Amino acid sequence: MRQSWQNTCTLALALGLVGFLPTAQAQQSLTVICSVQEEWCRPMAEQFEKETGIKVSMTRKSSGETYAQIKAEASNPKVDIWWGGTGDPHMQAAEEGLTEAYESPMMAQMHDWSVRQWKQTNGRTIGIYSGALGFAYNTKILAQKNLPEPKCWADLLNPKFRDEVQVADPNSSGTSYTMLATLVQIMGEDKAFDYMKALHKNINQYTKSGAAPAKATSLGETTVGIAFLHDHVTMIVDGAPMKAVTPCEGTGYEIGSMSIVKGAKNLENAKKWYDWALTAKAQALAVPAKSYQVPSNKATPISPQAPKLEDIKLIDFDFAKYGSSAERKRLLAKWDAEVRSAAK
Ligand code: F6P
Repeated sequence: MRQSWQNTCTLALALGLVGFLPTAQAQQSLTVICSVQEEWCRPMAEQFEKETGIKVSMTRKSSGETYAQIKAEASNPKVDIWWGGTGDPHMQAAEEGLTEAYESPMMAQMHDWSVRQWKQTNGRTIGIYSGALGFAYNTKILAQKNLPEPKCWADLLNPKFRDEVQVADPNSSGTSYTMLATLVQIMGEDKAFDYMKALHKNINQYTKSGAAPAKATSLGETTVGIAFLHDHVTMIVDGAPMKAVTPCEGTGYEIGSMSIVKGAKNLENAKKWYDWALTAKAQALAVPAKSYQVPSNKATPISPQAPKLEDIKLIDFDFAKYGSSAERKRLLAKWDAEVRSAAK
């Protein structure tokens, strides 16, 4: 057997056909970028490997960072599938032709909002979960510092919160870009930028990852953290002295997404992952990993801990506009020029 394989290889080399040989590695591997929490990425990779025998090489990276990597590697893609992260950079990647259209046989099992994401991008990205944005405060620190309980976006501008608020950088983080786009939709662009410039005075750190401020709030490293509500719930479930708030003015939400990278070296395996990741069974791996997003497969049980989107004052988020390449680029450049570099 071994001898005959060697003979085949020698013959292929002699004929200059080596590029056409199906190597065992190409058939059995998959490179995934995962833009949710490491604690959820890991069991996903392990379970997929167990069920399919396909070896997964997984890296965790924030949404905006992943988009930048996929764009930089467009002429020689190293990633096969991008699983998770907010929808906006997935939509931007779709518009820029960095991802591949695919119609999964799982489509009929998905919620409408998941399919809408797929249709809007001509099949290049699909919704895998959803979750609303909010903030949380550390109840102990708030009491110790005698600070008022923040209930609204407006309350975070109180000068008493100077250096007490943390949020991610919208360039690297989809969470933070969701906040930017949310504020623009609630307040109008001029007022939203005035708001973010004023908030800048109260920001102690712009983190790379969107969920980092939730962790920092749980540890008392910041009094207030802005992040998706489900990321705050993860900390609260672990016993952190935290209260999650849905801002009184209303808030935005994400459609966490999945895309196959254009030119994926392991395209067939990427499709296998895609189909599998849409099953109720695979999506059910979120809750044991303490991830409380709302899943996109209608049959996946929703954890009682998951923030109930129907009870939250959600804006009618314009995903097409804020996920478009031109708008995302423009708003991020404006944020860099006017907010990040504003005086403290
Ligand atoms: O932590 C999970 C999560 O909030 C996802 O729901 C979301 O898509 C992702 O993180 C966003 O991460 P980031 O802001 O780091 O891009």
